[in-house]
Amino acid sequence: MLVSASGVHYRDSAGRSILDGASGLWCVNAGHSHPLIVEAVTEQLRTLDYAPCFEFGHPGAFEFAADLVGVMPRAFDRVIFANSGSEAVDTALKLSLAYHRARGEGGRTRLIGRERGYHGVGFGGTSVGGIGRNRAAFGTLLPGVDHLRHTYDPSAAFTRGQPEAGAELARDLQRLIDLHGAETIAAVIVEPVAGSTGVLVPPVGYLQLLREITERHGILLVFDEVITGYGRLGGMTASEVFGVTPDLIVLAKGLTNGTVPMGAVVVSAHVDEALSTGVAPGVELFHGYTCSGHPLAAAAGLATLRVFEEEGLCERAAALAHLLEEAVHELAREPFVRDVRNIGLAAAVELEPGAGAPGVRGFEVLKRCFEQGVLVRVTGDTIALAPALVYTEAHVEELVGAVRTAVRGIH
Ligand SMILES: Cc1ncc(COP(=O)(O)O)c(C=O)c1O
Repeated sequence: MLVSASGVHYRDSAGRSILDGASGLWCVNAGHSHPLIVEAVTEQLRTLDYAPCFEFGHPGAFEFAADLVGVMPRAFDRVIFANSGSEAVDTALKLSLAYHRARGEGGRTRLIGRERGYHGVGFGGTSVGGIGRNRAAFGTLLPGVDHLRHTYDPSAAFTRGQPEAGAELARDLQRLIDLHGAETIAAVIVEPVAGSTGVLVPPVGYLQLLREITERHGILLVFDEVITGYGRLGGMTASEVFGVTPDLIVLAKGLTNGTVPMGAVVVSAHVDEALSTGVAPGVELFHGYTCSGHPLAAAAGLATLRVFEEEGLCERAAALAHLLEEAVHELAREPFVRDVRNIGLAAAVELEPGAGAPGVRGFEVLKRCFEQGVLVRVTGDTIALAPALVYTEAHVEELVGAVRTAVRGIH
């Protein structure tokens, strides 16, 4: 049990200090209980606890939307709020359908995801998601969904940063276009770096090629940046870091530093324009949640952006990234390690699964790290490391050191 937190540490129910090696769940990028965020949310709660964003509004939601657009790539000019990554993904998928319909291409209803992609647990996100176990219990999910091949290539194991080979995997989209017809496809959604399935870093040129193909065929490209946004890769977005501009960006997690649930879709000007042209007076978009743009979340979001700016968190992440890379690749020599991957402040150590017991070694490492006072994230037999952007070099060493000790202890 984790009972309190401050900076990069939790305290557990036994009173032990635990180094957070996962930024919560990839969300507490600026460190826990940041005083500025705590104060902003507390003050907001005293001033305005709730206000509907239907017909009415409140200043915080507009201020936050304006500031958020200010740190996004230039093409973006509108924000639609939700309360989680899952809701924001579903919102982005619905916006894609509405966009084509507004432009007289209502036949574009197909949605394309990617194998090993994770886009939350809504019907849309589960459908475009590419993790078999997350889909298995839920029947046929949405119709008209297909998936690109994933980008993981075991022969590129132990690559530092982006693998050189594999950009042509994006041509898999051409296969789906040939199969279904571009005129039936609304959008392609990908995580620029697949986070939940173990930090799968895109090959050099892959995202660029995906952008080229989508653009050529009038298909929207959605970047799910729930993990890659907010400094994880050393820039505000993966879009900025990779120099590829999608049509929609999905954010959550780091948006409020994990303090108050919130998700957002950042919309590019051309999509916004199509959606708002010729709309009859009244409701602009028949979509929204009771807590969309919630005052507490907006206050947390504004304060988080302030912290990012004042503390130069993206720059700090970029500066720390090479230290994490050096440290984590030292683990390549340890027993059972069959791959080490990293980009920005995200890294994964993939272990050989035990015979007939997948996931057991991974979980054993998680437990052994926790015994040493370090919290890591595990997916199957892959240990994921997601340090807060405010880590010091000593924290990086402690985190990777704990994984080393844990791995040496497993069988
Ligand atoms: C890339 C991505 N998209 C969407 C989600 C879903 O976000 P939430 O859990 O806030 O619904 C996640 C959560 O891990 C994620 O990593």
